[in-house]
Amino acid sequence: MNTKVWKVDKYVDNLENNPQVVDAAHFLQENEVVALPTETVYGLGGNAKSDVAVEKIFAAKGRPSDNPLIIHIADKMQLEAFVAEIPKKAEILMERFWPGPLTIIFKKKDGVLSDKATAGLETVAVRMPDHPVALALLKKCQLPIAAPSANSSGKPSPTNAQHVLDDLNGKIAGVLDGGSTGVGVESTVLDCTEEIPVILRPGGVTKEQLEGVVGEVHLDRALIDEASKPKAPGMKYQHYAPNAPLYLVNGSKSFLQNLIEEKQKEGLRVGVLATEESVESYKCDVAIACGKRAELETVATALYETLRAFNQEKVDVIFSEMFPNTGVGHAIMNRLQKAAGNKMINE
Ligand code: TXA
Ligand code: MG
Repeated sequence: MNTKVWKVDKYVDNLENNPQVVDAAHFLQENEVVALPTETVYGLGGNAKSDVAVEKIFAAKGRPSDNPLIIHIADKMQLEAFVAEIPKKAEILMERFWPGPLTIIFKKKDGVLSDKATAGLETVAVRMPDHPVALALLKKCQLPIAAPSANSSGKPSPTNAQHVLDDLNGKIAGVLDGGSTGVGVESTVLDCTEEIPVILRPGGVTKEQLEGVVGEVHLDRALIDEASKPKAPGMKYQHYAPNAPLYLVNGSKSFLQNLIEEKQKEGLRVGVLATEESVESYKCDVAIACGKRAELETVATALYETLRAFNQEKVDVIFSEMFPNTGVGHAIMNRLQKAAGNKMINE
């Protein structure tokens, strides 16, 4: 399949009638799959009502069929068609955080969406992305759009159109190239089907922000205790992994430097995931600054691009600094732990 690339400037007016957006919307209406930029990562979109379209999403990514997709909408009015009830707290959260990186799990109304999109669950995950190109496309095609991150299953999520092509060129109808995404880590997945909302995946909206609006918010047990089964099916899979084994290093810079030297003595090429503040201090084969430690949002923005960059550098092993587990640091550490398959070295 020839994958089309539509370049769109997200700052131009009247995006809904931009010829590139209109063309991409036609493909979605024909049940083809199209990658689109959001404020978090690129998504691989398809008509959420169509088994055919949803099957194409799973096939292109090589995604296990038990892992449900997030449904993307441009207007809250769309919820009524496929959501059974909207709890008060969800209403308040939508008002405050939509459009934005918050996915809300609702009880599902049957018979509207493809059961394959929700992996046969009785709930449905929904979000309204805060990206002008995504919103224009959603409005133009007039469909709820199922969209997982547009990477091959297991790889780091794509934060620009080239990352999408690196994984999916020839496997999808097209990609709308709206430039680099901003937040860099995926949306927070919040289960609002229970009285006290539960975070199933930490993301762009922090626990502190949510609690500021609706009071108490819980964390899914699996986020605290590795042995528990996660409520978001996707959270049980290894994800975001670079080609080389990645270790999180819980210790000082000199401890990390010693680890580098041990591996180099074995003849290995060593990479270090550092920050702007520390990148100069390591003597290794490839040190990459992943944003600024003093501004954790910049670390989130750069994270997946940095993990992908190590693949270009052909390193044999990667050591990563760690980050505080609060605010957006919670999402960063969650993704790094997954990318590392939980391998950690303590000083
Ligand atoms: O920022 C994002 O959320 C991006 C962009 C493209 O919107 N999308 C994204 O989708 O990260 P994906 O498919 O990579 O991750 C969706 C996560 C998975 O862990 C999945 O298991 C979970 O949400 N999920 C979806 N529906 C669910 C449901 N009904 N109950 C529990 N978890 C659900
Ligand atoms: Mg994903």
